[in-house]
Amino acid sequence: MIIAIDGPAGAGKSTVAKKLAQRMGFLYIDTGAMYRCLALKALDQGVAISDTAKIIALAKGVSIDLINNPDGSLKVLLDGKDVSEAIRKPRVTEVVSDVAKIKEVRQIMVELQRRMGVSKDSVMDGRDIGTVVFPNAQKKFYIDARFEERANRRYKEHKGLGNQASLEDVKNDLHNRDTIDSTREFSPLKKADDAIYVDTTDMSIEEVVAYLVDKVK
Ligand code: DC
Repeated sequence: MIIAIDGPAGAGKSTVAKKLAQRMGFLYIDTGAMYRCLALKALDQGVAISDTAKIIALAKGVSIDLINNPDGSLKVLLDGKDVSEAIRKPRVTEVVSDVAKIKEVRQIMVELQRRMGVSKDSVMDGRDIGTVVFPNAQKKFYIDARFEERANRRYKEHKGLGNQASLEDVKNDLHNRDTIDSTREFSPLKKADDAIYVDTTDMSIEEVVAYLVDKVK
C-alpha cells in the first residue's frame, strides 16, 4: 500500500508523514531529501546549478539510500555518506527547487521513488506523489497551512538545527520555493483530484496524525 502525502514546504508534511509511517509500520520515504542530495552533490562538486547537462549527469550516477532508524528518524546516505544534516542546510535549501525543476532529474528520481515504494508498504511525501509518482496510491493527502504559519514553523526548525536564518530570510526562501515548485513546467506542486485536503494551520501535529490514521483505517 502507498500513502501519498503532498503539499508545500513548511506545511508539516514530513513530520506527520514520518509519524504516520511509524503508526502504520510502513516505510517512510522523503522524496524531498532525494532532490536535496542531488543539490548537495552539485554544490560539493562545484557544479553550477544552471549547468543543466552536468546536473543531469550527476543525477544519473547518484546513489541515494533512505534508512528508517528505529526511533522514527531518517538517515540519508548520499554515495554511502551520511548527509542527514548537510542536506537541511540553507545553502542546499536555497538551490534545491532549481535542481528539482529539471525534467530529466525528475524522471530519474521518480524512477528511484517508484522502486523504493513498491518494495514495502510506504508513506511517501513530496510534491508530485499523488499526481505523478503514484497516481494510483490507495490514499492521498494534500497537507497545507497558511503562509505565515508555514514560515514560522520553518523558522523554528532552522533555529532547532542551529541555522542562522532570520524569519525574513525564511519567508523569502519559502516564497521563492513556493513559486518555483508550483509554476515549474514539469509536474508542478498540485493537489491530486482525489487527495484529501488538510489545512493544518490550527492543528497540532498529533491532531493531524490522528486525522490521517483515521482516514487510512
Ligand atoms: O520537502 P523539501 O523541502 O525537502 O523539498 C525540497 C525541494 O524538492 C522542494 O523545493 C521541492 C522539491 N521536491 C519536488 O520537486 N518533488 C518532490 N517529490 C519532493 C520535493
